[in-house]
Amino acid sequence: MKGESVTVHKVAKRYGSVTAIESVSVDVKAGEFLSLLGPSGSGKTTLLMMIAGFELPSAGLIEIGETDITYVAPNKRNVGMVFQKYALFPHMSVYDNVAFPLRMRKIDRAQIERRVREALAMVQLDAYGSRMPTQLSGGQQQRVALARALVFEPPVLLMDEPLGALDKKLREQLQLEIKSLQQRLSVTVIYVTHDQEEALTMSDRIAVMNNGLIAQIGSPASLYSEPASPFVADFIGKMNFLPVEYLGSGKAGHQIRVTDASTLSVTRSLNGHAFELSPGLSLRAAIRPENISLAARGSGGPDAIAGTVDTSIYLGTHQILLVTLDGRSGPPLHIQASASRDVSAFSRGDSVDILFPTDAIHLFQARVTANE
Ligand SMILES: Nc1ncnc2c1ncn2[C@@H]1O[C@H](COP(=O)(O)OP(=O)(O)O)[C@@H](O)[C@H]1O
Ligand SMILES: [Mg+2]
Repeated sequence: MKGESVTVHKVAKRYGSVTAIESVSVDVKAGEFLSLLGPSGSGKTTLLMMIAGFELPSAGLIEIGETDITYVAPNKRNVGMVFQKYALFPHMSVYDNVAFPLRMRKIDRAQIERRVREALAMVQLDAYGSRMPTQLSGGQQQRVALARALVFEPPVLLMDEPLGALDKKLREQLQLEIKSLQQRLSVTVIYVTHDQEEALTMSDRIAVMNNGLIAQIGSPASLYSEPASPFVADFIGKMNFLPVEYLGSGKAGHQIRVTDASTLSVTRSLNGHAFELSPGLSLRAAIRPENISLAARGSGGPDAIAGTVDTSIYLGTHQILLVTLDGRSGPPLHIQASASRDVSAFSRGDSVDILFPTDAIHLFQARVTANE
């Protein structure tokens, strides 16, 4: 099996007055694992259904390899498909379910037998051929669906929230199995999920979708460290947002006012650059929980901001402290303790100094629309 590239060029989809996909362009490389990540209603399924051929675009074109397949029937596209609901044929055995796509393609019996055995072995269900779908757990049914989608060796595999119905432990196990299978087979995968951790775990690249558009596309690490908008910053990982006032820029970077008593320097370049900076402008500062440090009150140095510990939450691998900034209302900051930066010495009611590294603060334009 060898993966093929998938090109989506200026594709739009309207249902009457509803715009499901505004305009999407994306080049998926051969053998790449691309996730479509976004909230419910952002257009993920619609985009996948157009690539599968179950929906036709209102505009644009879709290619697999060098071939324009925009209007090609689904069964002529040579793509495998796995849905959230297992969608196995309930009256057929596991073996017959997996053999189905091969029988449809009129492949000879001996070869069907061999390929079904291989596909079932691939998903560790060698011994389950004679079972009926109702005799399998949810995870096993989804493995059968995966075997059925891969048995005819499609160059492209499309998956729509395939693990959405499974519990967390099984989901994490299958994420790794699917990822390792995809790498072994070098099949191109387009994978729909609304679960950011799942997308981070599995993907070579993630396309973050919002309101029928791709808000940002990139590697998991680049989306996490360089979010282009508050929407992406908030959707991938945990992000603290603080309304701040822009004061000016100089050698030490951008100066911002955080509370009446405190200002900060920001040395990162501004995210987006699509807006004019002038003193007095309202901005949104954003910072990840693991980038904030705490020190005992008075020991944090001149750039520290005074705060008070509200809650301390133990989470096994790490600890979260919720800290309010003195003299300002709004939701508390989430601060994540790690082995190297231990903040676990602090507990509820403690007065602390909060330290923001100047290169870890993102600055965004203040909220301009409801769905930026
Ligand atoms: N067949 C349809 N008719 C009308 N509207 C639809 C249809 N399918 C999807 N939509 C609308 O298109 C938008 C995107 O839906 P969908 O692609 O299912 O989003 P997601 O998979 O990200 O949850 C939603 O507003 C949804 O209501
Ligand atoms: Mg969907």
